[in-house]
Amino acid sequence: MEIDSRRIRRLIRQNRAKERTLDRIVRRQGWLDPLAEAVQTAVGAFYEVLGAPGKTLKDAVHGTYVFGHPLHPALTDVPIGAWTVAVLADWLFVATGRVPAVAGDLALAVGVAAAILAAITGFTDFHETNGFERRTASMHGLTMSLVLVIELVSLGLRLWAPGTHMTAIALATGGWLIALAGAYVGGHLSFGIGTAVNHNAFFDGPMDYVKVGTRDDFPEGEMRRVESEGLPVVIVRQKGLLRAMGAVCAHAGGPLDEGKLEGEVVTCPWHGSRFRFGDGRVVGGPATFDQPPLVVRERGGIVEVKLAHPIE
Ligand code: FES
Repeated sequence: MEIDSRRIRRLIRQNRAKERTLDRIVRRQGWLDPLAEAVQTAVGAFYEVLGAPGKTLKDAVHGTYVFGHPLHPALTDVPIGAWTVAVLADWLFVATGRVPAVAGDLALAVGVAAAILAAITGFTDFHETNGFERRTASMHGLTMSLVLVIELVSLGLRLWAPGTHMTAIALATGGWLIALAGAYVGGHLSFGIGTAVNHNAFFDGPMDYVKVGTRDDFPEGEMRRVESEGLPVVIVRQKGLLRAMGAVCAHAGGPLDEGKLEGEVVTCPWHGSRFRFGDGRVVGGPATFDQPPLVVRERGGIVEVKLAHPIE
């Protein structure tokens, strides 16, 4: 018994040792959770108070409408790029005098404007995070918010206190260095933890028809979940016709078969994304990607499905 518990303790220590340093640091920041909850409540209340237009606005800010991809990661490239140019221009001005001081000021201002938009999209995406993902997102958000404040102060000094130009340059450079660390955490959030990625990206599904049940397995108006060559599929019969799409919500993996069906649209039980049976199109965020659509056929009482758009 004693040997077993010692072995278990050793295994736990080894597993901890294998965990990435960033994840280990994030795991210890429990103090972030109440703050995260307060921010999520505030973001939810802001959109809620706007009513139906608020929901449309929120979906657009996620990237569900117009862009059709997550908007936040695309926007964040602008401040990072602009602030990099600002730091270069600033120090070339200091070292050589051959670059005008205004070049750094302008690049900094462009970065600040883009960072404000990036912050709005970031806080909106943050509203639907939870658990460890939310804690990582909190670290990213806090770091980038601090950077935005630093860069705003630097911009303010340049505009209203010309005698402090070197202080403004030092601040902008420091903010840029912190931004690189914050961007690293943001990258880890997407590529390491899978926030805002398409949760159906790695499902293949059947190229040719495969059997998933018989006629009696799919009664009128009831959603049923089946597995088809590794792809979880939700099927519904409406007015006698069968329709199908991927059952794993593209947003964060929620089970669509447990969602609410209204007409031909199903609402995900986790964060309320809405998808249309028939073509899998996302018609309401926070999801930004469509569901994999499948075609269904019924022959001799046997129900078969295949991907509507084969991958190969
Ligand atoms: S998992 Fe988030 S809306 Fe479906």
